[in-house]
Amino acid sequence: MRSIVTVALICLALGGCATRTSPAPVGDPVEGQKVASDLCSSCHSVGARGESPNHKAPPLRTVLSAYPEDKLVRDLTDAVHISHLKMPQFFFGETHAADLVAYLKTIQTQPE
Ligand code: HEC
Repeated sequence: MRSIVTVALICLALGGCATRTSPAPVGDPVEGQKVASDLCSSCHSVGARGESPNHKAPPLRTVLSAYPEDKLVRDLTDAVHISHLKMPQFFFGETHAADLVAYLKTIQTQPE
């Protein structure tokens, strides 16, 4: 009996065990558009049309065809480099990453 109480107290102390297994937050595309224009638009085209300022950077409206959205959320959240070294490293909260991807989903087209 005492061990059950101890486990419950540890869970409370950690901020609730349930939150650790809850699904990723659902992103808000409006917030995501802000994140994209703040952090990505210096290199990537972040709109529904237009060239990227950095010609090596693919327009973000095409990236989800090569980059599954859950992987992108995970990679942004874990602040890993996205498969190459030319991109700066970002430190995202999970919510920002989900917002960004929610926005990207609204602008995806097939690569030209
Ligand atoms: C300083 C310039 C720069 C910034 C800022 C930047 N990127 Fe990139 N990104 C690049 C370049 C250059 C490439 C393509 C490089 C390559 O293919 O080697 C790229 C490629 C990508 C790819 C494709 C990766 C792949 O392997 O298919 C994704 C996804 C991506 N960027 C997402 C983002 C997101 C999201 C942001 C904003 C949070 C961002 N980038 C900000 C320069 C940048």
